[in-house]
Amino acid sequence: MNTAGKPRVLVTREVFDETLAYLRQHCEVQANQEDQPLAPAALAAAVAECNGLMCCLTDRVDAALLAAAPKLKAVANIAVGYNNIDVPACTARGVMATNTPGVLDDSTADLAWTLMLGTARRITEVERRVRAGEWTGWQLKQWLGVDVHHATLGIIGMGRIGQAIARRAAGFDMKVIYHNRKRIAPELERKANASYASFDGLLAEADFIVLQMPYTPETHHLIGAAQLKKMKPTAILINSTRGGVVDDAALIAALRDGTIRGAGLDVYENEPKLNPEFLKLDNVVLAPHVGSSTEATRKAMAMLAAQNLVAALQGDAPPNLLNPEARSR
Ligand code: DGY
Repeated sequence: MNTAGKPRVLVTREVFDETLAYLRQHCEVQANQEDQPLAPAALAAAVAECNGLMCCLTDRVDAALLAAAPKLKAVANIAVGYNNIDVPACTARGVMATNTPGVLDDSTADLAWTLMLGTARRITEVERRVRAGEWTGWQLKQWLGVDVHHATLGIIGMGRIGQAIARRAAGFDMKVIYHNRKRIAPELERKANASYASFDGLLAEADFIVLQMPYTPETHHLIGAAQLKKMKPTAILINSTRGGVVDDAALIAALRDGTIRGAGLDVYENEPKLNPEFLKLDNVVLAPHVGSSTEATRKAMAMLAAQNLVAALQGDAPPNLLNPEARSR
């Protein structure tokens, strides 16, 4: 708390003016308005006296950082994924952790579809060719793609975003199958027009496989060489969730040798330093982790994170609390 009784918060990366204005109504705000992540030591120094931390997926919040911030009460991630936060370590210190579910579902689903359509119709490859002056005229067999309509869409990870991706498939007359740790409720299956499949069954049947599960130790390299071999040689893989669920080296080999037809990727292992071999391949569409990046959605995410942080620091239950045990401590 500062002398005016306001809690102190650190905002680790550039956010919108309206986000800062809202936070400043309730807190003393220290904001790094550089759009670059703070190095771990600088982050630890900056948060040392703070009660709240508003962070992004590029900030690692682990036991060491928490130890450097003894007054910390709450950490608000501006993301739905929170693999950058060690939630058990937060709980052990009585630090509430929050994320931003819901507000980004539709934008993220749209981006998964952008990658599906873009990969199927080779849109970034043909655009490169147009720009390079290689387009000399219409030809019947020119840069042929594959149809999305009437194909089978397989979604692995059927949470809110997975369901939003599935619902969009109705307009393309697709068959939708999904795999999830737990089968979703029959009413949700009906809304998504999707039927449950085993993991291996989905890999074997789907023409488009979209990954939308969280990244955890259990989902690390869920898709590797063995799983890629189980897919159709015509399959297209879309990763719009987190780097690390796919073994990128295995995917590069599969794209190179024709084990699968193509891939559309928004996320990578070790991003932003993606494996340079991807850049040599024409059958992969590469996006720079922009799944939720529309102005409206990123503003909604930042504001929801700010609301979570303020609620936690005012002693209220934050709407998106990941560790209720921390609040009761
Ligand atoms: C999320 O919310 O997890 C997104 O990846 C952030 O862009």
